[in-house]
Amino acid sequence: MAILVTGGAGFIGSHTCVELLDAGYEVVVLDNLSNASEKSLDRVKAITGKEVTFYKGDILDRDILNKIFEKESIDSCIHFAGLKAVGESVQKPWEYYNNNISGTLTLVDVMRQHNCKNIIFSSSATVYGDPAQIPITEECPKGQCTNPYGWTKSMLEQVLMDIQKADPEWNVILLRYFNPIGAHKSGTMGENPNGIPNNLMPYVTQVAVGKLKELGVFGNDYDTPDGTGVRDYIHVVDLAVGHVKALKKIDEKCGLAIYNLGTGHGYSVLDIVKNFEEATGVKVPYSIKPRRAGDIATCYCDPSKAEKELGWKAQYGIKEMCEDSWRWQKNNPNGYED
Ligand code: NAD
Ligand code: UFG
Repeated sequence: MAILVTGGAGFIGSHTCVELLDAGYEVVVLDNLSNASEKSLDRVKAITGKEVTFYKGDILDRDILNKIFEKESIDSCIHFAGLKAVGESVQKPWEYYNNNISGTLTLVDVMRQHNCKNIIFSSSATVYGDPAQIPITEECPKGQCTNPYGWTKSMLEQVLMDIQKADPEWNVILLRYFNPIGAHKSGTMGENPNGIPNNLMPYVTQVAVGKLKELGVFGNDYDTPDGTGVRDYIHVVDLAVGHVKALKKIDEKCGLAIYNLGTGHGYSVLDIVKNFEEATGVKVPYSIKPRRAGDIATCYCDPSKAEKELGWKAQYGIKEMCEDSWRWQKNNPNGYED
């Protein structure tokens, strides 16, 4: 039995392929390479000594989906494919709703036609909006998203819940990721953003490697210990392992299940700068800038449900997250481009 990994050439997807292959699963990847390089899958092979079956194609394309389900014996789907740039989604809402929502509707329709009704979906802490409680548990009500990207996650959660409710043969696991950073220990796989990074850690590593001049810290007047935004950073390898644990839960015919995947620890922007400098010995010059529209002060989770029900707990701390992000950036200043 194989696992279909949509978006498997991307940042979280490629790390998940490593963990799946190491755990003995057969892996089929579908990715249109709109935000990834096929080289990531070569690195997966170099690390694991095993190969994934790769289809270059789009989740909006029924023909390629049908072909995959006819040729491969797919047991479950881990669905990472989607557009994820918050700012871009404000400029191009149609593209985001079409790719993420129509793409997922197409995928799920083809899945059910082939009687494959197991899906793990990449959701996000963004569905909590400005969270009603900290730390955030899964019972915390969903909130108002501040951008179309966030709404695609929130809406797709609802779509998948309704589909599972109407047909209880479906097993649907919604994984709400907090802030994934870090990279594979080998330094051969990591995050590969296009252009100027939007997210904190890739920005920090690009300043450290000399590609960018200084970090802009978006606001130091939040109601947090040092005034800068607090987030729950999680090592991408821990996140990848969470998907393997979720597959085991699907084997138990779990119906609908929702889990936060985070460490439960909050770090501010300045904590990250300090930890990065200590872990790597490289200085990160920064200056304080105005707040970024749509940002919240504090976001970290209570990850105990995933520990109790999946037997999953983050193993890596902030030091390893910084060291591993840096090893990837230092060895690959241009990502997969070289
Ligand atoms: P990524 O961009 O590296 O990976 C997404 C992959 O999907 C890319 O390889 C891209 O080429 C592919 N893709 C996009 N649209 C596609 C389509 N229509 N058909 C086929 N392939 C398509 O992003 P990531 O950080 O690995 O994120 C993976 C998933 O996790 C996404 O759904 C993202 O929204 C979600 N997520 C990410 C974060 C984060 O901070 N990285 C946080 C919460 C949730
Ligand atoms: N930040 C800076 N400077 C930068 C980039 C970020 O100060 O150059 C700050 C932000 O203001 C925030 C923190 O660093 O306080 C983290 O910002 P990121 O952009 O790295 O992450 P976000 O928490 O804003 O968003 C991330 C993902 C979203 C996802 C969300 C869920 O990018 O896709 O987590 O919590 F929806």
